[in-house]
Amino acid sequence: MNFELKTFDLAAAVGEKCDALIVLLGLSFKPGKDALSALLAQAMKAGDLELKAGKTLSLYRPAGIAAARVVFAGTGDGSARETRQGIAAAMAAAKSTQVKKLAVCFAEMPGEGALRSTIIAVAEASYVYTSTKSKPEPRVIQRVVLALPDAARLKPVFAQTVAAVTGIEYAKEWANRPANHATPTLLAGAAKSLAKLRNIQCEVLGPKEVAKLAMGSFMAVAQGTDEPLRFIVLRYSGASKAVAPTVLIGKGITFDSGGVSLKPAPEMDEMKFDMSGAASVLGVFRALADLQPAINVVGLIPACENMSGGRAIKPGDVVTSMSGQTIEILNTDAEGRLVLCDALTYAERFKPRAVVDIATLTGACMIALGGVRSGLFASSDELAAALVQAGESSTDLCWRMPLDDDYAEGLKTNFADVANVAGRAGGAITAAKFLQRFAAKFAWAHIDIAGTAWKSGAAKGATGRPVALLLQYLLASAK
Ligand code: BES
Ligand code: MN
Ligand code: ZN
Repeated sequence: MNFELKTFDLAAAVGEKCDALIVLLGLSFKPGKDALSALLAQAMKAGDLELKAGKTLSLYRPAGIAAARVVFAGTGDGSARETRQGIAAAMAAAKSTQVKKLAVCFAEMPGEGALRSTIIAVAEASYVYTSTKSKPEPRVIQRVVLALPDAARLKPVFAQTVAAVTGIEYAKEWANRPANHATPTLLAGAAKSLAKLRNIQCEVLGPKEVAKLAMGSFMAVAQGTDEPLRFIVLRYSGASKAVAPTVLIGKGITFDSGGVSLKPAPEMDEMKFDMSGAASVLGVFRALADLQPAINVVGLIPACENMSGGRAIKPGDVVTSMSGQTIEILNTDAEGRLVLCDALTYAERFKPRAVVDIATLTGACMIALGGVRSGLFASSDELAAALVQAGESSTDLCWRMPLDDDYAEGLKTNFADVANVAGRAGGAITAAKFLQRFAAKFAWAHIDIAGTAWKSGAAKGATGRPVALLLQYLLASAK
């Protein structure tokens, strides 16, 4: 999709030729003297238009206005959150197969967060999945003009967010692909194609190289399937070699059947989304290529299927991780932590300034926080604060969870250094406590996106989260 940023006020919006014009109005809006303001004043006086977030009023070919359709939308207090509600309602109202060129006009100057959430919400509403359709529907909206009273002031925010959208859509497309169209090998192919972009390099390790590294925990998960594993190493080099990189690790389980600890059949198809963490890392790299910030970033993706078969791991098996720690696999469905722990150990070689892993790790996190906020765990308060802040300003929210050592009690076992599961209670936290054992040598955070990475039901599909959060965090670290 093609976004443009322009300076103009409501008076100029009157003459803007487009298939639909969305006018965003906050509670503090006062009508001026132009034709749109005249309509607005009447509608507000009659009580037909409220400026609360999410309220809309639609008009068809109003006299004296160049746009074919006009939607007035309330954005409440103008915060990122309420603006997003407003634009989402307006996009639903403007949904017509005829809207190819859309103009979104802010009646008053928006804040940074409001502009960001507007761009993300417009893209969200117009995304169409294409990969496995024989006759993909084309994307209806081709051009979006964003009109603000003073465009120059928010130009950098605009450029960042347009790049974020490219990354979000890249992540969505890969996460949405079914497991037979997104195997570890195909994911590695996507990473390699990203390496054609400026300042990005990619190296892919296969079963032999991974065995040589002694990633016994990662290999154990992959041994139940014929589909070969891949360990993907991406690098973005925007700063000198002396600058320590941030490492992003994405869980890349291309399908999670649960293994011998088999999952129930209903909704098992959704386990194709179990590589959403990996997809978010690919999406971030896609956006970094566009933005070229002066930072270094490493992306690590342990990718494999979790299947049951003649050679699959069994409950009770003990494996040796790359760190040397032995792990008793009490539940083969707790496979995410088994692939991530070896990636965490591998991350040590980069002497990172911080390591953030992103994973659809636990159903328990989905129960705890639902689909609104991702679960954030961090060993460093500074890193946690930076990630929470990045979430707020990108409206890609997360919430910090505890890591008290008492939560690790249940991971004790008589047969190995650690077990891969504890009891049902606090399942998102005990999973994080498992990972923390492998993250002692750097500042570390873990983002559990089990509840936020995709939507179920009629709107089933990947959300592209937390690409916006991660990108915001990385760009803020460049300053
Ligand atoms: N990929 C799942 C987590 C998941 C479940 C994400 C449902 C989204 C929706 C993960 O590999 C898993 O199976 N976790 C188990 C852990 C348990 C065995 C301790 C879970 O959450 O049930
Ligand atoms: Mn699982
Ligand atoms: Zn999983």
